[in-house]
Amino acid sequence: MSFELKKVKADSKADLYADLLSQAKGLLHDEHDRVANAANFSALLYHSLPDVNWVGFYFINKGMQGDELLVGPFQGKPACVHIALGKGVCGTAAKTRETQLVPDVNAFPGHIFCDGDSRSELVVPLIHEGEVLGVLDLDSPKLARFDKEDQAGLEALAKVFLDSLR
Ligand code: SME
Repeated sequence: MSFELKKVKADSKADLYADLLSQAKGLLHDEHDRVANAANFSALLYHSLPDVNWVGFYFINKGMQGDELLVGPFQGKPACVHIALGKGVCGTAAKTRETQLVPDVNAFPGHIFCDGDSRSELVVPLIHEGEVLGVLDLDSPKLARFDKEDQAGLEALAKVFLDSLR
């Protein structure tokens, strides 16, 4: 099967996210593998959303020293590999199970710099069957790039990813 990435022509964020939801469902519906779907999902968002410099996943890794976040499939510059739960924006989202909407990363205590271009960030926790599986992370070079509408759109998209897993 081949998937044609559509150039989204949307007049509003509502249209953009409605279009992306249907593209994501089409892209993931035939496959249940977490890495394969995370890779394609990151590529879809990175190439469709304006003003993003990093889109991808961190997954919980059960290590000898306890749980941590380990970088997963992403698009963007090479990133930090290990993030402790509760640390940075990603670790905070994973620990609190709440989406972190950060208009200015410099104002977020403990923000972890992976790409010096990032100015704002949105991190959605991924809860699968009651367990934190990891996080979906988006970075932007623009201040206050993400708002509540982006949050709702990306939470709905994250659910499409989670629903694709078995
Ligand atoms: N800024 C994140 C680290 C991950 S990168 O942005 C890809 C954080 O503070 O958790």
